[in-house]
Amino acid sequence: MLRDFIVSLDTERNLTEIVMAFSEGCVLIEKELNNYDRTNSVKLGHNISGDIQKPIDIRANHCIVSCLQEREGIFYLTSEEEDKTRLMYEGPLNPFPENIYSVAFDPLDGSDNVDCNGGVGTIFGIYKETNEHCQNGKNLVCSGYAIYSNPVIFVITFGEEVYEFKLNKDEIFTKTHKNLSIPDNPKRIFSGNAGNISKWIEKDRNFFNWVVSEREKYTFRYTGCMVFDIHRILCQGGIFIYPSDSKNKNGKLRMFYECMPMAFIVEAANGMAYDGKGRLLDNHVLTAHQKTPIYIGCKRDITIYKNFYQIDRKKFVIETYKGSGSEELSVDEGEIIRDYTVLNDDRWSRVTSMDGKTGIVPTKCLFLE
Ligand code: F6P
Repeated sequence: MLRDFIVSLDTERNLTEIVMAFSEGCVLIEKELNNYDRTNSVKLGHNISGDIQKPIDIRANHCIVSCLQEREGIFYLTSEEEDKTRLMYEGPLNPFPENIYSVAFDPLDGSDNVDCNGGVGTIFGIYKETNEHCQNGKNLVCSGYAIYSNPVIFVITFGEEVYEFKLNKDEIFTKTHKNLSIPDNPKRIFSGNAGNISKWIEKDRNFFNWVVSEREKYTFRYTGCMVFDIHRILCQGGIFIYPSDSKNKNGKLRMFYECMPMAFIVEAANGMAYDGKGRLLDNHVLTAHQKTPIYIGCKRDITIYKNFYQIDRKKFVIETYKGSGSEELSVDEGEIIRDYTVLNDDRWSRVTSMDGKTGIVPTKCLFLE
């Protein structure tokens, strides 16, 4: 059971209770979704980040808030569906209390999918509160998500392992056998809204064109629900992107309660999260609803993406080469490589493939496109 498992990790009491509050809130949301009239297309307007707000968003928010309100140890509460951060703590501030946390969450990620029975989830981050003027990724002590599939899955990490639980018929989360970790030999999956490509910066367009080039053998998966798409990547590998574009200068997804919590989980599962300039978790959260570009997934794909300016500038291509011999890299004709160094007598070059493998090929096979 979820509580027994968290306690068995020697988790601090308030933190245990806050994680339990999120799990209970997710069970309530599951019930709301089951009873939701999907023909009811009422829209309440937009939330502060610009997403359409539906009655189910408000209900889901209420489910989580009502469970958190019963718990101690919460300082600030930030929800995607509430304009302002709430101060929850009413005790003394001097000295600043120990074991106190701030929570940030997206109660119903992907709620655009609700009307068509598509995937939706909940994302949350629990940050150690230090009473500095802003939060940052280093203060994350736990993050998690739920996906409302069959069964409902609840995933959490305290920064090392990523644990998965599923909801049984008695409404109890029980641990599944395996911890989540991106496979060592990850699948080539690309997940992003390519409908925006004309608005992307050149680097993103080039990366996308590389991904879809026939030889790279990536496959496309995109549900319109970040938590679903990233869950797939945790299970199988690949990359999810939501870049900045000419309309959304900082991307669309929110740093505090979407991207940082997911980055914390993906890093613990042997992956990486990048914001287009550096490690996503190295950021400071300056405003509750601030947005960030995000590139998240397996180390292979994020590394390829990060190096893409370099590739784009050089575009080294193997002209004709069928590798053989132990030191030679087996690359195919037309393969784009990341980098190369010409060796002593100019006849051979050491090249690095897009996957980061190095080897030697005849220099005459290289040309700059
Ligand atoms: O609000 C967040 C979200 O619904 C994510 O879950 C999802 O990845 C993204 O927005 C989808 O946005 P778009 O419709 O622009 O692809």
